[in-house]
Amino acid sequence: MSRQLTLLQLLDVRVSAALAAAGCEGAPAVIVRAARPEFGDFQANGVMAAAKARRQNPRELAEQVVAHLDLAGIASRVEIAGPGFINITLAPEFLAARTAAALAGESLGVPRPQPLRVVIDYSSSNLAKEMHVGHLRSTIIGDALARVLRFLGHTVIAQNHIGDWGTQFGMLTAFLVEIEKGVGTELALSDLEDFYRRAKQRMDEDPEFADTARQYVVRLQGGDAEVQTLWRRFLDVSMRHCEAVYDMLGVGLTRADLKGESAYNDELPGILRDLQAQGLAVESDGAQVVFLDEFRSKEGQAQAYIVQKQDGGYLYSTTDLAALRHRVRDLGAHRVLYVVDQRQGLHFQQLFCLARKAGYVDDTVSLEHVGFGVMMGEDNKPFKTRSGGTVKLCELLKEAAERAFLLVTQKNPDLPEDARRDIAHAVGVGAVKFADLSKNRASDYVFSWASMLAFEGYTAPYLQYAYTRSSKVLRDAGQLAITAPITLVDAPERALALQLACLADALNGVAKDAAPHHLCAYLFELAVVFSRFYEQCPVLRSDGAVRASRLQLCRLTADTLRVGLGLLGIRTVDAM
Ligand code: ARG
Repeated sequence: MSRQLTLLQLLDVRVSAALAAAGCEGAPAVIVRAARPEFGDFQANGVMAAAKARRQNPRELAEQVVAHLDLAGIASRVEIAGPGFINITLAPEFLAARTAAALAGESLGVPRPQPLRVVIDYSSSNLAKEMHVGHLRSTIIGDALARVLRFLGHTVIAQNHIGDWGTQFGMLTAFLVEIEKGVGTELALSDLEDFYRRAKQRMDEDPEFADTARQYVVRLQGGDAEVQTLWRRFLDVSMRHCEAVYDMLGVGLTRADLKGESAYNDELPGILRDLQAQGLAVESDGAQVVFLDEFRSKEGQAQAYIVQKQDGGYLYSTTDLAALRHRVRDLGAHRVLYVVDQRQGLHFQQLFCLARKAGYVDDTVSLEHVGFGVMMGEDNKPFKTRSGGTVKLCELLKEAAERAFLLVTQKNPDLPEDARRDIAHAVGVGAVKFADLSKNRASDYVFSWASMLAFEGYTAPYLQYAYTRSSKVLRDAGQLAITAPITLVDAPERALALQLACLADALNGVAKDAAPHHLCAYLFELAVVFSRFYEQCPVLRSDGAVRASRLQLCRLTADTLRVGLGLLGIRTVDAM
């Protein structure tokens, strides 16, 4: 009956029907998790607004709604509180049935919504330099979103929109010719940051080199085979630096997901002509510009979206128009997510506006800038090395694993070293990811080793540890009957089953807001209620039906923690 609906959806349907029966057709039910246990499990908060709109006494309306509310087989108690809140307590039998269904079904019983094609633009680093912490955030957040959306049955198309084009590649290829002679490409590019700095220095100090660099840009853009080969070699090495980071992170981006800026070169003149033909692009100071009335400066002037510079060159903004058109027209996206630094917000709002005006995207397609804040050091300044340089991500992740190794060794001195290394990698990298994903992505956050690696608190290790406890109970129990009846008697059993039943809503929240922190908060709460259960409800020391029922709760908890952390790109381990 209710198998296809999540808990929130089910309650929404029932309360909405009761509102309609009470004369409030179409009034939102506003179902939320109860703020406190004494308010039941869920609250329907829509009555107050509905009553206000109809100038009715909210308490009276609440009574009418409750009189019409059919929650037979779902709730054990429905109460009106305060000015017209409806507090709903779910029936233990209902929660038990949900638990059993989740254990027996696929995908932990999470219902599949209408499947969509979702393009996610993430990672998207600039190959002229080393990947930096901003790209780390984009990679981690984008990967988690891709995993959750795929789990829900959507088709996800990753687009790694790398910065592989632009005038700096003239300088870099020209410098590569100079440098590699002595040492070979691999070594010359072993430190991209350093390479870039030295090339830049040559540019500034030697007019002859600067001249060559400019010629290289022209040759590169003109399709000159020799410079193109150099450019490809440069990109290949730089891409391998990114791939080393993906590897350590366990992020599955491959070269098949690459569709960088250069891929759109041939389309840019056509885009410009089209914008001109539509009367959108006009000349302004020798550049080609679209004035967008929707965006005005403080002085009230329409903001300019530049599509071609005075010198005829195209820009990031032009490429993004071509890329967006491709995503919608050729990839068939229903939804396009851009996991990019918050500071590019205005660019994306303008891009979306213009793409719709130009007819590249219709109203059925959702365009979303999934912006994120800055990663800060413990000094509350943007994250840098001590000397103020860019932090090498590989080094950062190695340090995470190294620090975790010390902790794991303290806890399990007797485990063989390679087992400790493996656990440490899962814990260290997991800690970095969770610290990032658990924050509301839009806010800046402070990168702190001590807080992310703590075994108690809102951290990956805490969740990974909850998993090891739940899975250990199962291993120690040996055989486990997954069809034994589930009975929820003690409060911690019930609380655990309730939290388990909320997984689908948590995942829907992640998908809707493109916000992985909803899943982090959900899993943390699950670990908390599991610990309470674990401490208060003996599993292996109880007998018969109680033992069988509790073992199943352990099993669904372990599965949910493992799958849930997996959706965040975080590995679980059996011991730690
Ligand atoms: N490479 C860009 C940067 O590092 C991010 C690209 C994001 N994607 C896009 N379609 N603009 O700032």
